[in-house]
Amino acid sequence: MPDKRRNYYLSAHTEINPRIMNETIQFNLNGESVRVTTDSDRLLLWVLRTDLGLTGTKYGCGEGICGACTVLINDEAVRSCITSLKEVENKKVVTIEGLAHNDKPNVLQQAFMDHDALQCGYCTPGMIMNATALLKHNPHPTREQIIAGMNDNLCRCGAHKRIMEAVETAAKETGGQ
Ligand code: FES
Ligand code: FES
Repeated sequence: MPDKRRNYYLSAHTEINPRIMNETIQFNLNGESVRVTTDSDRLLLWVLRTDLGLTGTKYGCGEGICGACTVLINDEAVRSCITSLKEVENKKVVTIEGLAHNDKPNVLQQAFMDHDALQCGYCTPGMIMNATALLKHNPHPTREQIIAGMNDNLCRCGAHKRIMEAVETAAKETGGQ
């Protein structure tokens, strides 16, 4: 490899790029305190999936559009594909893995299963996390409010109707909690 290209190649690699400083970032993840030492500009999605092994959070568009990567940060639905690790320092992060209790699905997860509200299932974690935030802020939404609240999460399989019904059922039962 010519020297010029080799230098460019080397500087593009984080492990050996002297301009990138590793930092230790502490946050609460699914109820437990975690500390991650890495380049804090890395995206939360990849830290969750690659460093912490939580692969329930999905990569879809990588541009904040589809909602597949949605997690809760301090009870707000946030797209982890456009959120850096340093943005969650000292905050509370919840992923799809944090919803079940004693291996039992929570009300929303159960409602998605009962309504068969998925086909391939790829959008489902993001849908459920978005619905979780929706019901936290509005425990008893109207159907119109559910549609508006879920509108920015995309489902390529077209399961929207059953997704709406699942969220509606969870809301009726317990306000989704
Ligand atoms: S992968 Fe994050 S919004 Fe699509
Ligand atoms: S169930 Fe396949 S993308 Fe939604």
